[in-house]
Amino acid sequence: MNTSLYAGISHRRVTVLDIAAAKERGEKWAMLTSYDQMTAEIFEEAGIPALLVGDSAANTVLGYQNTIGVTVDELIPLTRAVVRATSRAMVIADLPFGSYESSPTQALETATRFFKEAGAHAVKLEGGTRVLPQIEMLVTHGIPVIGHLGLTPQSVHTLGGYRVQGRGGKGEEIIRDAKAIESAGAFAVVLELVPSDLATRITSSISIPTIGIGAGKSCDAQVLVWQDLLGLTAKSPKLAKRYLELRSLMGEAVTAWAKDVATGEFPGADQTFE
Ligand code: KIV
Repeated sequence: MNTSLYAGISHRRVTVLDIAAAKERGEKWAMLTSYDQMTAEIFEEAGIPALLVGDSAANTVLGYQNTIGVTVDELIPLTRAVVRATSRAMVIADLPFGSYESSPTQALETATRFFKEAGAHAVKLEGGTRVLPQIEMLVTHGIPVIGHLGLTPQSVHTLGGYRVQGRGGKGEEIIRDAKAIESAGAFAVVLELVPSDLATRITSSISIPTIGIGAGKSCDAQVLVWQDLLGLTAKSPKLAKRYLELRSLMGEAVTAWAKDVATGEFPGADQTFE
């Protein structure tokens, strides 16, 4: 029997136990963002075991400059669409800025909304030591949690931009945070924009999987914003490799259709009803 996270599970959702087992086997896996029905269907069919409804929807769907402004009310319908469109992928809801920081109770109330109103299977939140009480509260109440360390985009104004975190002595703090997140009960941790040797040290010093984005090869899993992967963004960040140039392909197709409309080529006989 094929037990891999990709091919072994066809009739049920991927669970936290499957993800832990993949780490045990040393199996690497991929997570992608998704914010809608169509991409969720495509990514699940392609074998992606975990879909993140990231607060990056702020920049990729909702037109914000950064992730700070996006709200729970805006993310819940996107999460619900991704859950409805899938039957196998674990769907992770990102807790947006201002929806969990002030207390463990606030975090529980927000996560409960994502579970009850959208059907999410796990949540992700940013930060290290300062959010440990939140992680403990969620896990105690049956909500699987993914931590997020390194570049935490919700703190962009404190960090002074989207820059590599944890160089030099600062790496020790991230290692401590990763261990603390594991002890608090998180089942995985995202490492964003950290030096690859730091990610290697973290990956070998905790037993939960690390999910890298701009964190090198050694992480147990990799995550990307799908628009960066498939070339829908005008420019992808250095951490992403573009596997398609969707933006120019779509632009060319739309231009061709508009030209056909102008010249009367569209609709043709095939698109016309008697
Ligand atoms: O919101 C998001 O898409 C994320 C990933 C980049 C990890 O947090």
